[in-house]
Amino acid sequence: MSTKLPGPRTSVIFNYQDHTSCDSLIMHSGLVLITGAGGYVGFAVLCETLRKGYYARVAVRSTAKGDAIASAPFLRTLGLKQNQITFVTIPNFTAPHAFDEAARDCTHIIHVASPLPTALDAVTSNNEEIFVTAAKKGTLAILEAARVAGTVERVVITSSYTAMRTLDAIFGPDSADVVTAAGSRILDVPGPYPLDMVAYPASKIAALNASEAWIREHGEEIRFDLVSIAPSFVLGRNEQAQKPDDLLTSTTLLLLNMLLGLHSPSPLPSAVAHIDDVAHVHVASLDVEKIPGNRAYLVSSDGLKGAAWATAKEIVKKDFPQALKKQWFVLTGTQPTVCNTVDASETEEVFGIVHKDFETQVMATVAQYIELKKMEEE
Ligand SMILES: *[C@@H]1O[C@H](CO)[C@@H](O)[C@H](O)[C@H]1NC(C)=O
Ligand SMILES: *[C@@H]1O[C@H](CO)[C@@H](O)[C@H](O)[C@H]1NC(C)=O
Repeated sequence: MSTKLPGPRTSVIFNYQDHTSCDSLIMHSGLVLITGAGGYVGFAVLCETLRKGYYARVAVRSTAKGDAIASAPFLRTLGLKQNQITFVTIPNFTAPHAFDEAARDCTHIIHVASPLPTALDAVTSNNEEIFVTAAKKGTLAILEAARVAGTVERVVITSSYTAMRTLDAIFGPDSADVVTAAGSRILDVPGPYPLDMVAYPASKIAALNASEAWIREHGEEIRFDLVSIAPSFVLGRNEQAQKPDDLLTSTTLLLLNMLLGLHSPSPLPSAVAHIDDVAHVHVASLDVEKIPGNRAYLVSSDGLKGAAWATAKEIVKKDFPQALKKQWFVLTGTQPTVCNTVDASETEEVFGIVHKDFETQVMATVAQYIELKKMEEE
């Protein structure tokens, strides 16, 4: 523990003015413990939490990681209230009771942190410990902390649609099996997990399974419930990025690789999601009155069939001809797609949204890459 922790506030003064919808004028004042805020999804979730008026207590593994998040120029565009964001340092997220102290006085927890693959074909030794055990222990430590705090109304955990589909089905061949948030569960993924891209889904499967089992076991004795958010492959702006290479990380890498001319031998699933929708659904889930709990919600666009990655090249050709002329992008790369049928329609009904489509995701990612290229040129 290294920081002064403010309690939840009731103040509703807020000066973020870039909103048009009615809902966004409702400012919340709970205190949300957030993990994983240094990552692509986590940072977007943090920003949306702050925009909606909540106070955020960000759990980081080191003060250096906290400083990196706090110094992101984008945060300064949000017009934050005093002390709206604070940091707690927890060196080991998988230690028992890791989050007990950090969760004190919190009204909500959003747990995004989870081990991520470094590349599709990365080989890491000891993957069972690094991915599967760590994801499970971190998730259980969060639920225990919520119980100990006694003030938490809801825990929101970032799952993944890969937690709801067998690996064989994710990477092909095409299958008409429909993934649904309520019905699709994998009960066992036997190791070993030699590749990161195998260990990652295994870790998400284990964590989802463990969290739902924990709730079944303790549901009677706790005063909070659980919402699991399961996005598919996430694309769109990364507001922490300050140079083009910063976008060559996480899932935006997979899209940009093709647009930079690479030939990917392995197909990617057709299931994609916009970062804005992912962040919105996480933060809207904090509202226990509006969003039913002890449920999972998929975030996935373009209907049941999803998108074809290669169509991004047509989008670039149509909308960014200047970038092609400058050879910032080329149209010679390839990225096959394997159809994954995902039914996220329940999320659209419950949250009152229409998922932003693949074209919008590509436009956002590509436009930011160009923006950063231009800044680099100047
Ligand atoms: C974190 O805690 C877990 C569980 O107590 C332990 O197995 C692991 O070695 C610890 N990691 C570090 C880096 O200390
Ligand atoms: C799922 O949870 C149950 C109950 O805790 C456990 O017996 C089972 O091994 C778990 N499966 C996985 C894949 O973690």
